Amino acid sequence: MGEGDAGRTSALRITGRTRILFILADPVAHVMGSAYFNDWFSAHGVDAAVSPLHVAPDDLGSVVNAIRRMRNVAGFGVTIPHKIAVRGFLDEVSGRGALIGAVNFVRRDEDGRLSGDNIDGVGFLAGLARSGVAVAGKRVLQLGAGGAGRAIAFALAGAGAARLTIANRSQDKAAALASSVRAAVPACQCMAGDADPRGADLVVNTTSVGLRSDQSPLADPSVLHPGTTVADIIMAPETTRLLTDALARGCRVVRGRDMLEGQIALCARFMRLVPTEADP
Ligand SMILES: NC(=O)c1ccc[n+]([C@@H]2O[C@H](COP(=O)([O-])OP(=O)(O)OC[C@H]3O[C@@H](n4cnc5c(N)ncnc54)[C@H](OP(=O)(O)O)[C@@H]3O)[C@@H](O)[C@H]2O)c1
Repeated sequence: MGEGDAGRTSALRITGRTRILFILADPVAHVMGSAYFNDWFSAHGVDAAVSPLHVAPDDLGSVVNAIRRMRNVAGFGVTIPHKIAVRGFLDEVSGRGALIGAVNFVRRDEDGRLSGDNIDGVGFLAGLARSGVAVAGKRVLQLGAGGAGRAIAFALAGAGAARLTIANRSQDKAAALASSVRAAVPACQCMAGDADPRGADLVVNTTSVGLRSDQSPLADPSVLHPGTTVADIIMAPETTRLLTDALARGCRVVRGRDMLEGQIALCARFMRLVPTEADP
């Protein structure tokens, strides 16, 4: 799940027919993705509503098992710190959820069966596509190898990135992720490396650096050229310092909100709130 400063209001009309969803988080005050989901449901005529739930790690199992028995619940999203632990309480985890090692959405079927998936990466790709950015054949510099970074690295490689360099503060995590991506997608030349954007067609910040305005971007923006696309998955501020610098260099930019909006349509299909032709 993403977070951010939505700063918007939703015209919610919740009845006994409404499909209910939750976002499980701890802490919970920063969670704003629910507002975007509710706006999207209103705009698309979907009778569904999302509420954040503050759930401590020790209570996760009992809350998930209670949700299993709530018959008007379509499913739930999970964010920090539950994305890894929640897998132990589910009936099924998708192949990509297993590969990434974390789940961010769980569907509750009519019989109470719980299925987890991770759509952070495909949501990011959907956000790129909405912005007219193709990945196939591109050279990508990814900053970060945390939870979202893992999902995005597998998605970029799966979408045909020719080269993927992963730069992370903890270099062992970048090396381990690069090795897993190479094993999963041998056609992608994936390696751990420096945060040097020279030669990259696409630079992606998947770290939390940029949440605060006093944080300098991890990649030097002065070497960016106008042909480079720069994406930042941070939701708030909507335009991070990295993106401000990239815009000043004439680059195309993609914001964290594009990723979240990419995820919402995929999530609605996964939860069977809208007709599905195929799984996201
Ligand atoms: N737009 C969306 O839909 C969406 C979805 C998911 C997440 N997000 C956002 O993505 C960001 C990351 O989330 P996450 O779940 O991946 O977090 P995470 O698992 O905690 O990973 C954090 C990443 O940031 C790096 N990092 C943190 N502080 C750093 C610093 N001072 N210097 C250098 N690197 C630093 C970490 O490096 P180390 O490994 O060295 O610690 C790691 O790579 C958050 O801002 C989150 O809100 C957005």
